[in-house]
Amino acid sequence: MIGIITLILWFIALLIASKFTYILYHKRKKAKISDDEMAVQKVAKQQDIAYTFVVSLSVLGAFIIYHFFIKNTIYQSHFFEWLNLAIRWIHITFGIAWIGASFYFVFLENALNRTKNVRDELAGNLWAVHGGGFYYVEKYKLAPKEIPKDLHWFKYEAYFTWLTGFCLLFVVYYFNAKSYLIDPEVLDIEPLTAIAIGVGSLIVGWVIYDLICKKLITCKIIFTIAITVFLIFFAWFYSQVFSGRAAYIHFGALIGTLMAANVFFIIIPGQKRMVNAAKKGLAPNPADGEAAFIRSYSNNYFTLPVLFIMISNHFPSTFGNVNQWLILLIISLGSAGIKHYLNLREKEQLSVWVLPFSILLLLTAAFVTSPTPIVDGCKEEVNITQVNAIVQNRCVTCHSATPTDLIWKVAPNGVKFDTPQQIINFKDKIFQRVVVSKDMPFANQTKITDEERATIECWINQGAQK
Ligand code: HEC
Repeated sequence: MIGIITLILWFIALLIASKFTYILYHKRKKAKISDDEMAVQKVAKQQDIAYTFVVSLSVLGAFIIYHFFIKNTIYQSHFFEWLNLAIRWIHITFGIAWIGASFYFVFLENALNRTKNVRDELAGNLWAVHGGGFYYVEKYKLAPKEIPKDLHWFKYEAYFTWLTGFCLLFVVYYFNAKSYLIDPEVLDIEPLTAIAIGVGSLIVGWVIYDLICKKLITCKIIFTIAITVFLIFFAWFYSQVFSGRAAYIHFGALIGTLMAANVFFIIIPGQKRMVNAAKKGLAPNPADGEAAFIRSYSNNYFTLPVLFIMISNHFPSTFGNVNQWLILLIISLGSAGIKHYLNLREKEQLSVWVLPFSILLLLTAAFVTSPTPIVDGCKEEVNITQVNAIVQNRCVTCHSATPTDLIWKVAPNGVKFDTPQQIINFKDKIFQRVVVSKDMPFANQTKITDEERATIECWINQGAQK
């Protein structure tokens, strides 16, 4: 009852707040029409405050409701599932907008016509057709003589992708540190220590990366070597402190942080300085443009590796491998190579070896993660009764229509092993998770033995029919 009243009050407060932002929206529109710049800026500030208020109110409301009504009840895992869903949804939406814009602008840069009919003040131009319309874009060498009043910036995509990603890190990994973040077989640490290492590594990583960019950029070869060593170190470091999947996600979070921080600390401030200089009629400092360009180009190479890492959770043969950090590096290098190939193509420079070499790297990753056959073979025939006994013992606390696990209240991914037929239906996936990557049972919470894994392997090798 109190829960429902709280919900209603929260909803009314949100309604009032959004009505308020709606009024401000119209005020701003009016000021824009009447060309009153001061008024536009004033309303824009009020709007920012109003939006911050709405967001804080939502977060606070959710927090209070969780704390007083949901915590330690049967609804707890359900609450986290929806929170995860909502944040993940926003995260990928902003991520697509950000990476889409990054791809688009790097494509523009690569494909600009720089020679035919280009005015002196321009670096180049480009014609495009999209969605039934014809577009013509021009890039200035530095800045136009007069900065236009309505100048479009691309920054919130990056900031919100990072913010939601950081929240997801908490919802998935830090609130469930014991299950998801820590693997005692890798390193037995306290949840708080693990979280501090996770968050701290993002900050330290940025400081080092930024130093490398600032100090070593003049020599391309040393710069590339330094960045490679930096990435190798962090891939290895995470594999020494976190569970396989958490190690991968942290490597992704680190690269994502570098990308967002490049936007926040380097690209946008540089652009602001350029705009301000141009407004005062001064020539913008070309170093600002160059620094922004290098950072956004390096972001472009990070995109494919980051996208792989974000979906890597679904592919246990990668993060579950004994040398998972090497696999991560091979895949990152291979996918960055593919991006390099695409960039070359956009510039109409064909390269013979970049694409085959990148694909070879990715194939190597697939090859070295393949399963190894049992050394001494299967001596006896294994039947479903034996396998069923193991599964009932080790798996159905989670994978059942009625799980008894404390965290998973519904069967994970809908996968249930209540009947022998259900086990047979999932034999291929069981093989992947129990024999190849060995990441099921989850964090081996139910303590499956190596003999039991071998029994399941024999059963599958023998056809897994009965
Ligand atoms: C402590 C809970 C828990 C236990 C015990 C457990 N699992 Fe899982 N399982 C999960 C979770 C959570 C997922 C979903 C996340 C993931 O894919 O890693 C999952 C996913 C799976 C999947 C992948 C399903 C898909 O759609 O890809 C398979 C297969 C699987 N488990 C098999 C097993 C087997 C076989 C056992 C017993 C040997 C087992 N699990 C024990 C929690 C558990």
